[in-house]
Amino acid sequence: MGGAFCEFFAGIGLVREALGASGWSCAYANDLDPKKRELYVGRFGDEGHFHLGDVWGTADVVSRIPGRPALATASFPCVDLSLAGRGRGFEGSHSSSFFGFVRALEALGGRRPPLVLLENVAGFLTSAGGRDFEAAARALAGLGYRLDAFTLDAAMFVPQSRPRVFVVGVDDRGDPPNAPPRSSGGWLVDAWTERMDSADRRIRPRRLVELMRSIDLPTGWLAFDVPAPTGNPPGVDTAIDRDDGQDWWDEAAVAKHRAMMHDRHRERIDAMVAAGETFVGTIYRRKRDGKTRAEVRFDGVAGCLRTPRGGSARQIVIVVEGGRLRMRWMSPREYARLQGAPDFPLTGRAGQDLFGFGDAVCVPVVQWIDRHVLSPASASIERPARAAGARSLPLGRQPDARAATPDDAGGERDEHVA
Ligand SMILES: C[S@@+](CC[C@H](N)C(=O)[O-])C[C@H]1O[C@@H](n2cnc3c(N)ncnc32)[C@H](O)[C@@H]1O
Repeated sequence: MGGAFCEFFAGIGLVREALGASGWSCAYANDLDPKKRELYVGRFGDEGHFHLGDVWGTADVVSRIPGRPALATASFPCVDLSLAGRGRGFEGSHSSSFFGFVRALEALGGRRPPLVLLENVAGFLTSAGGRDFEAAARALAGLGYRLDAFTLDAAMFVPQSRPRVFVVGVDDRGDPPNAPPRSSGGWLVDAWTERMDSADRRIRPRRLVELMRSIDLPTGWLAFDVPAPTGNPPGVDTAIDRDDGQDWWDEAAVAKHRAMMHDRHRERIDAMVAAGETFVGTIYRRKRDGKTRAEVRFDGVAGCLRTPRGGSARQIVIVVEGGRLRMRWMSPREYARLQGAPDFPLTGRAGQDLFGFGDAVCVPVVQWIDRHVLSPASASIERPARAAGARSLPLGRQPDARAATPDDAGGERDEHVA
């Protein structure tokens, strides 16, 4: 299906990577990080619509958006909503740039897209005890959007654990099929309630459903039919290069990390080496009880990619093969594969490439949302644009300071919300 869309917090462009495949065309992209832009342009070319600037520059943003786009996406900074952000939530200067996005939507007036998509970490549901999620939902409802929210983990598609929360908004120009609204009759068990009650908890965790039930929006909630994919994603071994040409560590570095393992991890690894078995896995270094541990994942899934700021945020590859134990830093190409963009052009500067992919969305996840939510909703929007009734915009708790740094420090852990 598709149409023109605006990609806010565009980063390296993996939302576009996902949506482009089904006919959506990017009319405007915004991000303030020139290093992310370099990766974006390396992939999509310099078409002139990438606006390198602050989302809070509302007049500038709005003047660059052509016509009336069909969709606006916002995978806004997660650092204040993730464990790394020390719980600042929307009081923090990074994640509160969401309200810069809302302000731009409001300023678009009759050119406001009928569809919006938000993406963020699972901490979005718990930040400020749920009040940040509520503030975001109310801000979008104040612009006339009916909302739905669900979670998807990249591990359903690729060998990377990356649970994420998605919020979809559809204004009254859309009448999406098979997305019943929540009825206002308190006792009635409506189709919305049935869908919430019978949902796969990986898609609609109880915490999220409770939040949605407790937030009474002026526009209301919808319930799209978002299935969980069936079938097993490939194992992490399919994303990892095992040839001798890789930057494998010397014996001392391997021995150091082997020594940093929990006893039971080290025993398991040693047994596989002794038995000549083959094993491909990943390691994160984490502080546990004041000690730095090298934690091995044995489940065939890589840990959540993060933006590398220090050794603890960068993932390590571990391979046991032919009686040998090898380790090295995970490469940018492997990061790209784990985000579902295996052939994405890299800059060749590892730090920049890892930073770009560590912050990005996972391509097949967004494609799944497109197939089951965005494209069906977009197809239901047939009526010509009419000036959206300008409702007052409850911007929630306004940030004291705006995002001033170009980076969105990641560092979130694999956050589960069930
Ligand atoms: C979670 S990342 C989005 C990644 C993107 N979806 C991708 O696939 O690469 C958030 C992005 O927001 C950008 N950002 C942070 N504050 C901003 C602001 N005030 N204005 C515009 N962009 C901002 C960061 O540079 C970062 O690239």
